[in-house]
Amino acid sequence: MSMPRRTFDVVVVGAGGGGLRAALQLASADLRVAVVSKVFPTRSHTVAAQGGINAALGNVTPDNWQWHMYDTIKGSDYLGDQDAIEYMCRTAAQLVYELEHYGVPFSRLDSGKIYQRPFGGQSTEYGKGQAVRTCAAADRTGHALLHTLYQQNLKAHTHFFDEYFAVDLIRDEAGYCLGVVALDIESGEPLLIEARATLLATGGAARIFRTSTNSHINTGDGLGMVLRAGIPLQDMEFFQFHPTGIAGIGNLISEAARGEGGYLINGQGERFMPRYAPHAGDLASRDVVSRAIIEEVRAGRGCGPQADHVLLKLDHLGDAILQQKLPAIRELSIRFAHVDPAQAPIPVFPTAHYMMGGIPTNRHGQVVVPDHFGPEEPVPGLYAVGEGACVSVHGANRLGGNSLLDILVFGKAASEHILEYLRENPFPRPLPPTAADLPASRLARWSQKGDGERVADIQSDMQRIMEQHCGVFREAESLEQGVTLLREQQERLQHARLRDHSKIFNTARIQALELENMMETALATMASARYRTESRGAHSRVDYPQRDDDNWLKHSLYFREGMRMDSKPVRLKPLTVETFMPQVRRY
Ligand code: FUM
Repeated sequence: MSMPRRTFDVVVVGAGGGGLRAALQLASADLRVAVVSKVFPTRSHTVAAQGGINAALGNVTPDNWQWHMYDTIKGSDYLGDQDAIEYMCRTAAQLVYELEHYGVPFSRLDSGKIYQRPFGGQSTEYGKGQAVRTCAAADRTGHALLHTLYQQNLKAHTHFFDEYFAVDLIRDEAGYCLGVVALDIESGEPLLIEARATLLATGGAARIFRTSTNSHINTGDGLGMVLRAGIPLQDMEFFQFHPTGIAGIGNLISEAARGEGGYLINGQGERFMPRYAPHAGDLASRDVVSRAIIEEVRAGRGCGPQADHVLLKLDHLGDAILQQKLPAIRELSIRFAHVDPAQAPIPVFPTAHYMMGGIPTNRHGQVVVPDHFGPEEPVPGLYAVGEGACVSVHGANRLGGNSLLDILVFGKAASEHILEYLRENPFPRPLPPTAADLPASRLARWSQKGDGERVADIQSDMQRIMEQHCGVFREAESLEQGVTLLREQQERLQHARLRDHSKIFNTARIQALELENMMETALATMASARYRTESRGAHSRVDYPQRDDDNWLKHSLYFREGMRMDSKPVRLKPLTVETFMPQVRRY
């Protein structure tokens, strides 16, 4: 298939915070940078981040990056790589000040300094007190950050391919990544975007679950692309369920609500979190709070006619706090839960929120492939950052406020490494004649119209299977069934057809291509959850309730071919400080 072609130095896939932070640095270095985004850039999912970004600025209480590092490692249930975590926590303050200088309208303390609020799992003095570390622009921090980065990119002359869907990577025989094939969603025309370096910043995939805080665009597109390119995914069993999604539908009610003094109550009106986390209470880490809510409901202490959720109480905070600190929460609650939190508590339940696993990378954002017989090898020219990548700073459970930090820190780190890589690889490599065969065949397949299964039906069946078989609590038999059921859905998808309308609207094609990516991601998640026979962080196996450091202090790897599983060691050695050795984790 011949295709129009465009050439750049770097192509960034995804226009969330990670992609835009990287693109900004690269475009400012006078490189030709293309950003491919399936939605208008400021609609990327970073826009939905509410509560804030962690940095030990110490504006409210004394703080330092070592305490932040300790909290992040403990939060990760000791599965995070400590070199990457040190790098992230040490860089955080500088990157937040940089954002301030770019123009992010942070909320302010009376002193004029950046506003910070308490968030879950954060402490002072290695677990003694509650830290106040999360820098916020009210409860719309991601919105403020994304719009600022987009405007900075316009100024730096980044080239945007708005509403283009990246279909697959292009690689040559030697394994170099040479760009992507994308589809112009409006016209349906493919475009080959050739680049010496490719950065995947495609975000997460919580849409594989029925209820999710994520927008509909979070379909694991980068994950599908790398799996089809023969690269494994890491730690896919670790999926974070945010404790406070609006019950039944999943919209995010930020942890900021508890940071500002809100708390959870059960059907008996009891404030139950202190029973589960005597020290941190409602601000324990997310895996702990999510499990506690489900246990309350299972014990018959849920709220509502079905006793199937708990309540988040905010009315005692008063109008002024709600208006100044949590305006978006109030609006969301009124619109989607039909409850004004100034008057009544919000019905909430844990909902799929964030992938800790993803495309394996090192701390320079290079995608790395494990080699059984030697050290990991980077895939030349291929980088990944953000939720779709696994660097791994979140290990088995991410702390709230560390995701905006992750995208900025590693967006910047990847762009710095790309600059070096481009200096060492100054000329484009020739494109092999078969470069676009895989994406061309997928595009041709999803041009066929006719009678067959509907893509939307298969998608909702897949989402239900994920909810029922791979939720907060898991066990072997149900996971085994889940794998079988997902494979059946994948088979159904092979026989699905787009409806035979006279003119196919391209969004139907996009939905089918996205579902292929979601299906790959769902299978990787279910198979990895089946593989790990211990409980750690967000992965709770009722049949293996203990953490098992002897056998499982290691990262899992999922390979698409044959659904093979493997593992690799956790990097326990930080860059400059002592290792935080695994401890019993209590909040
Ligand atoms: O609760 C929240 O505002 C979410 C923040 C996060 O996931 O980092």
